[in-house]
Amino acid sequence: MKPINVGLLGIGTVGGGTFTVLKRNEEEITRRAGRPIRITVVADKNVELAKKVTGGACRITEDAFSVVSDPDVDIVVELIGGTGVAKELVLKAIANGKHVVTANKALLAMYGNEIFKAAQDKGVMVAFEAAVAGGIPIVKAVREGLAANRIEWIAGIINGTTNFILSEMRDKGLDFNTALQQAQELGYAEADPTFDIEGVDAAHKITILASLAFGIPLQFDKAHIEGISRLDATDIQYAEQLGYRIKLLGITKRTNGGVELRVHPTLIPEKRLLANVDGAMNAIVVQGDAVGPTLYYGKGAGAEPTASSIIADLVDVTRMHTADPENRVPHLAFQPNQLVDLKPLPMDEVQTCYYLRLRVFDKQGALADITRILADEQISIDAVIQKEPAAGEAQTDLVMLTHKTLEKRVNAAIAKIEGLPVVAGQVTRLRLEELGK
Ligand code: HSE
Repeated sequence: MKPINVGLLGIGTVGGGTFTVLKRNEEEITRRAGRPIRITVVADKNVELAKKVTGGACRITEDAFSVVSDPDVDIVVELIGGTGVAKELVLKAIANGKHVVTANKALLAMYGNEIFKAAQDKGVMVAFEAAVAGGIPIVKAVREGLAANRIEWIAGIINGTTNFILSEMRDKGLDFNTALQQAQELGYAEADPTFDIEGVDAAHKITILASLAFGIPLQFDKAHIEGISRLDATDIQYAEQLGYRIKLLGITKRTNGGVELRVHPTLIPEKRLLANVDGAMNAIVVQGDAVGPTLYYGKGAGAEPTASSIIADLVDVTRMHTADPENRVPHLAFQPNQLVDLKPLPMDEVQTCYYLRLRVFDKQGALADITRILADEQISIDAVIQKEPAAGEAQTDLVMLTHKTLEKRVNAAIAKIEGLPVVAGQVTRLRLEELGK
């Protein structure tokens, strides 16, 4: 059996893991793929590292462009990341008729429409299981396993760094900065953790999932993105008292008016399995009309978990390599000429439940003023906690949960509430999802 030849761009953590797992499980992977999968060339700026990891088993080069033009390479694995040179390399590889396997969520969320179009025109595959939730085969599940369903919504913990930070804040009562520092010391968070903590990484992933679920073009620029850097430990404690946990969720929902596409800290009932996904783990719930809810749980990062997805894609591409391009699984789950123009909704039009925390002066009529504003905006209250003011203090916390309502109504109510003389400072607003049917 003629081996299929792979050119690997980047031999950092995931590239190293891919090399190791391919080698360790070589025999079984060949039995699955039908032919050996062989890394024949590795491009990395760090030639010494590449030599060390590969142990002289393949050619090493500093020039990634030579790999995407190498006539002997059948599949290019792009593990460089980012949207600069990685984009150029991927498009070049496609133009040269090579299949691409990538873990690059930013690249696909931002330029996927262009990349998949180029791949379609050229009759090559771009596989990206590792781009969403690392080792969890969620792309395959949504694209293929759930193909019978009209998918209603997806909600996922799709960033391990922030889930680790939130778990530490809750379990140890840490504030955000201390928990972030711990995440960095343990190697979860990058030295520059902005994409993780500000929700951008999760937004890349939920953008990809929304396209797979609903058959819409990738629209990262329309995603609403809020991270956890301004989350107060107080709110984690109040949520707990009310029977909820706070998780950074990527959420996408089909509604009559369009598609919700959002990332933000979210209260979820503590009894939900998703609420109990702790540490750096990832988990995603997909609600289909036929199957109901399905849950996918696993490691969303790390050398071998991510390699697991990269190699599954290599096996898939190897199996389909000789198939008629028209009869392969479409990149975004739906046939490319069948994508629909279902627009991501502006946040004002999103409907969900809310957690509101405000500082109020303990004065007669304060609660009545606040609830009147909510009633005027047709917002119904679900639960309230009001503490007695601490000794010597005139103000206290008032925490309310609302039933489902429109975000614009909540914005209007918050503006009015903040104008009340009995209210001090700003209202803290978090969104709440029951994640039931
Ligand atoms: N930085 C991501 C996370 C993993 O913390 O989950 C890669 O997307």
